[in-house]
Amino acid sequence: MYYPEELIEEVRQKSDIVDVISSYVSLQKKGSNYMCCCPFHGEKTPSFSVNRTRQIYKCFGCGEGGNAVTFVMKYENCTFPEAVKILAQRAGVELPQPEYSEEARQRETRRQRLFEVNKEAAKFYYIMLRNERGGKAKEYLDKRRLSEETCKNFGLGYAPTRGEELLAYLHQKGFSDDLIRDVGLAKIDERRGTMTQFWNRVMFPIQDINHRVIGFGGRIMDSEDNGPKYLNSPETEIFDKSRNLYGMNYARTARTGNIILCEGYMDVISMHQAGFTQAVASLGTAFTPGQAGVIKKYTREVLLAYDSDGAGVKAALRAIRILRDAGMSGRIINMSPYKDPDEFIKNLGQSAFQERMRNAENAFLFEVRMLEREFDLNDPEGKTNFHSQIARKLCDFSEDVERENYLEAVAQKYHIGFDNLRKLVVNMAAKTGGYAVQPERPKSGIQSKNKNTPEENIKRSQRLLLTWLTDYPQLYAKIKRYLSPEDFTVDLYSRVAKRMFEDIEKNMFNPASIINMFEEEKDQSEAASLFTTSLPELESEQEKEKAFHDILVSVKKNSYEYYAARSGVDLSTLSKVIEGKKVLEELSKTHISLN
Ligand code: UTP
Ligand code: MN
Repeated sequence: MYYPEELIEEVRQKSDIVDVISSYVSLQKKGSNYMCCCPFHGEKTPSFSVNRTRQIYKCFGCGEGGNAVTFVMKYENCTFPEAVKILAQRAGVELPQPEYSEEARQRETRRQRLFEVNKEAAKFYYIMLRNERGGKAKEYLDKRRLSEETCKNFGLGYAPTRGEELLAYLHQKGFSDDLIRDVGLAKIDERRGTMTQFWNRVMFPIQDINHRVIGFGGRIMDSEDNGPKYLNSPETEIFDKSRNLYGMNYARTARTGNIILCEGYMDVISMHQAGFTQAVASLGTAFTPGQAGVIKKYTREVLLAYDSDGAGVKAALRAIRILRDAGMSGRIINMSPYKDPDEFIKNLGQSAFQERMRNAENAFLFEVRMLEREFDLNDPEGKTNFHSQIARKLCDFSEDVERENYLEAVAQKYHIGFDNLRKLVVNMAAKTGGYAVQPERPKSGIQSKNKNTPEENIKRSQRLLLTWLTDYPQLYAKIKRYLSPEDFTVDLYSRVAKRMFEDIEKNMFNPASIINMFEEEKDQSEAASLFTTSLPELESEQEKEKAFHDILVSVKKNSYEYYAARSGVDLSTLSKVIEGKKVLEELSKTHISLN
């Protein structure tokens, strides 16, 4: 914690969520809520709802939710303490200087120093590009048709042939060889002394989202030159290649509702020059789940602008899977007849690219089209195998509607009888345990989709129980003898439950203040989801009471089993098990009314 909790709570209380969100987007009053189109994902009909009583917001389209602090974190793309600071300023609350531990301060100072070395090195390269030694590099960039403004924007530079110059410059600025080495700008060789990493290359500083230089890429200017085409800084304390993206520092504020993912530095620069400031690229390595996570903070819609060659297609197929695992949809921009976005833009220009963006291909259909290439469709066996592969892929969709839609699209495109393909999918699902066969949905809402694993069902029950208590806090008094925070076996839920029970007891329960317990956006969002999960829509009082009873029993039962499984090793859990068993028996005979 940077600030004391009471202070954060004071800031939150003085920041009415409706006022805060209204200062960013325009809200419309609808019943007891305020609504607007979600600022975090593109939509045309409003599904973003703000609740003044609970002081929380929730988007029913993309699932984002939280309190005023979460909103500012997401909208301003900033950290928890930064958001608190913004809100404090708004509300006129004075904040103390953040407190760091001695260790944290030292670590921070070291990181600052590493950033400084990089910044100075970038400055040095920048100057070199503009003096007489940079002539050839300047020519090279001209040849690639990058304007002076673009070069400046991306801080492009030139690493001269003689490495000593950089070293002398950095020494003069007070940086030691060790620091220069630790940031990846040089290696210390026993015989030859300190050797710089980059020489005679065009330099591309790589920045994090806060515009700090975390590393470099360097390109040779002549294909005859030695070494790889691009050389990159190694990973260091401040350069995590799996969680940063080239161009993200600009793309994060592009507010285009999408991100264009490219393969290379040059592609990104070319795209930005053409006005597509939402373009980013991975850093000399393949696209990673960590990078998908970074993108997901800004948008769910990713357009892939990968090279059109075999390697590019392979990389795109990999990226699609990573995006899908991260819950995002990818669409693929067709670059042909050109190799990459850089060449495309230079030859056909901006509006042609815009057109290609509009016609970008759905990721699933792209995958099927690439799959098709592997089979000989003139051969009956090849054709059969292709169709089975399609069926197998269709089984991956857990949503009926989605699967049916794709089934239809694919059947039409590849001239397969719809019913035949559907039969193939059903058979495949039966064989491999896919999702095509839906069991009935129980009314308690515990098991929403049959995709859920037992683990997910348990989480869901615990979440629903907390939602019930949010909607009906008066229930707590009736069930507190049966239920304790430890019954929530998911750590975050247990922490929320503990605080929630205390607050209800003190008659000061407020979901928004509970969300404040968490600093990580991920945790906040998860905590918010506890208060915004919708309960199953049940008509009669009896149905509701039954559903609540089922949830409570299900949570207790899991808790009982959880501790029973551990009682062999840990004696202290034994009493919990015995008590749990008693409670379960008692609950089976007890009726709990909602009022
Ligand atoms: P490309 O070879 O497609 O380069 O590599 P490019 O971006 O189109 O660059 P130009 O147009 O030839 O100048 C794509 C990315 O792969 C990484 C770099 O990040 C590059 O931008 N790469 C490529 C390396 O790290 N090392 C290499 O030797 C080559
Ligand atoms: Mn290129």
